[in-house]
Amino acid sequence: MFEQLKILPADPILGLNQTFQQDANADKINLSVGVYQNAKGATPIFTAVKKAEQALLNSQSTKAYAPQAGDPAFIEHISNLLLGNDLVASLGDRLAAVMTPGGCGALRMNAELLVQASANTTVWVSNPTWANHFPLLQSAGLTLKTYDYYSADTHGVDFAAMVESLNAIPKGDVVLLHGCCHNPTGADLTQPQWDTVIDILAERELVPFIDVAYQGFGDSLVDDAYGLRQAALRCPEVLVASSCSKNFGVYRERTGAALVITATASQTAAAKSQILSAARRCYSMSPSHGGSIVGHLLSSESLTSEWKAELEQVRSRMNRLRLGLATGLNDAQSKIDFGFVAESKGMFCYLGIPQSDVLTLRSEFGIYLLESTRINVAGLSEQNLPVIVDRVADVITR
Ligand code: LMR
Repeated sequence: MFEQLKILPADPILGLNQTFQQDANADKINLSVGVYQNAKGATPIFTAVKKAEQALLNSQSTKAYAPQAGDPAFIEHISNLLLGNDLVASLGDRLAAVMTPGGCGALRMNAELLVQASANTTVWVSNPTWANHFPLLQSAGLTLKTYDYYSADTHGVDFAAMVESLNAIPKGDVVLLHGCCHNPTGADLTQPQWDTVIDILAERELVPFIDVAYQGFGDSLVDDAYGLRQAALRCPEVLVASSCSKNFGVYRERTGAALVITATASQTAAAKSQILSAARRCYSMSPSHGGSIVGHLLSSESLTSEWKAELEQVRSRMNRLRLGLATGLNDAQSKIDFGFVAESKGMFCYLGIPQSDVLTLRSEFGIYLLESTRINVAGLSEQNLPVIVDRVADVITR
């Protein structure tokens, strides 16, 4: 039965991380997969998360199945965190949320919903987008096309080209947007640009599908949700894929949520039942541990404040390091102006160096970034920054 199977190439992100782990170079530096690292190179558990988990372990008395849609506290609080309490209240039963195994699970469940809603759905994704959007959404049966987004010349959003692309998308199609901290480029829309994008989506009856994997890593929990909230206010139908991997640091717990807003409460009830049915045929229900931790944390005012303070520290540290990289590179060479690095948002940005230099950094110095030149800003540290600056400057000026 399996004789004809070929070994597939490794995933461009997880596979590179694996190669890094196996590299014997004692000085290697990992800027590949999007995982936050502190000054010691560790990925610590947020103190508030640890406390919530401990409280959960102390109080949990059964491992019987939890509700299929997920921990009710998680569902309530994650919806409020994403959309804000007022919007959640005003949407009422037009909004439904289901807990999912991470942001990938949320993307996939919404993809399953779209396939059930219409056999020929096209989803438009930014060029470029997160590498896993393609396999994840296409394998559900969706057609993917790209809209213009990023300019390699300006190292920022090419907004005129984006607007032109969006204006050419046929009515009824779905547009996948990164809620904040665009992965892989770190180039985000400004609030006025979001307003224009939502105008186009609303006018052209396009359905926003918003991937929110880094809320709190850009400007703030509220600012990072601006586009999402505007879409939910102004478009009758919105899909959201949310991940808690990064902002709660619960990567391996696989915690996320698929949110659906439709024009009426009965359509939303139908959509939710479709997501639950898709979950049942794929994996039955989401693992509960991560969602229960996040639900418990967000139910407690003191743990929520503690978590917000920790999240702010993470964000400030990333911003310091991002600035350090931009300044350091500009001081060390004059071939490329890396000022744009300081402007990027969230965990990632493109370095915009030749691909051959990416490979040299890896083979000569054990510095791992994706071939697209994406670096994980959260993999920089006070210790490795001077080394990275020195090596990058060396390689690009050869
Ligand atoms: C990344 O882009 O590195 C992260 O979102 C991790 C992943 O699953 O790809």
